[in-house]
Amino acid sequence: MADMTGKVVAITGATAGIGAASARALAGAGAAVVMGGRRRERLEALVAELGAAVAAGVEMDVRDPQEARRLVDTALERFGRLDALVACAGIGAYGGIMDLSDEKLQEMMDSNVAGTVWQIRAAVPHFLAQGGGDIVIVASVAGLRGAGDEAVYAATKFAQVGLAGGLDRELREKNIRVTAICPGGTATEFAMGAGRTPDMPGLARMLRAEDVAAAVLTVLTQPPRMRTLIWSMRSIHEAD
Ligand SMILES: NC(=O)c1ccc[n+]([C@@H]2O[C@H](COP(=O)([O-])OP(=O)(O)OC[C@H]3O[C@@H](n4cnc5c(N)ncnc54)[C@H](OP(=O)(O)O)[C@@H]3O)[C@@H](O)[C@H]2O)c1
Repeated sequence: MADMTGKVVAITGATAGIGAASARALAGAGAAVVMGGRRRERLEALVAELGAAVAAGVEMDVRDPQEARRLVDTALERFGRLDALVACAGIGAYGGIMDLSDEKLQEMMDSNVAGTVWQIRAAVPHFLAQGGGDIVIVASVAGLRGAGDEAVYAATKFAQVGLAGGLDRELREKNIRVTAICPGGTATEFAMGAGRTPDMPGLARMLRAEDVAAAVLTVLTQPPRMRTLIWSMRSIHEAD
């Protein structure tokens, strides 16, 4: 059984979906989790569920580099170290290149691309000081191939996969492992009202947040001798 006793993980996107499921899985394996997201009431509920002794919530927006640093600082202040970052926060919206507003596209690029960069820049100095660490980016299968109704979203996810590949080359010898997890469609609140609806029949056939969380836990408990660069996963019902 995966054991993360004594490990401290910062995780964004923890107020919903894959991030929340990952926080539960990691805490269930013994890790302390520092969870980031904008919705304070959800963070408070998760801390109450997991226990304040092993969980902390940070109300933060990944688009702001200072807030990303506050997430990492909280891990150090509360639990004394940081072993891993799970960069999961992200948004999506479906539509052709001219269908979505300038504002929505800017929000998506800022959240998914810049937001991921800020989180990583906040964590890396501590990993270097500590002699190692793990970075898991929750990207998407959209980061491996384009799709007609989500070109800009796919571009942000390609950026995350590219970032992971580049950082692997940059940081591997410093004992920092970088993984991009690329799930297919996952039944969460993701893109609700921006292309998905809660009553979509397809939701039941998608991956579950817990499936992706299990991959996050596996990556973070792999032996020190190995690293996983890209983990692509789909529902059995999802064609390529
Ligand atoms: N669901 C899918 O089909 C699917 C498939 C492949 C990959 N993914 C990726 O998986 C990740 C998680 O998605 P999900 O399905 O779990 O979606 P979700 O249920 O909608 O959760 C998204 C999370 O991201 C957080 N977030 C969004 N913008 C943020 C911001 N500016 N600052 C801080 N937190 C922010 C949200 O928190 P707040 O709103 O509280 O800030 C929420 O916790 C995303 O990166 C997504 O692209 C999803």
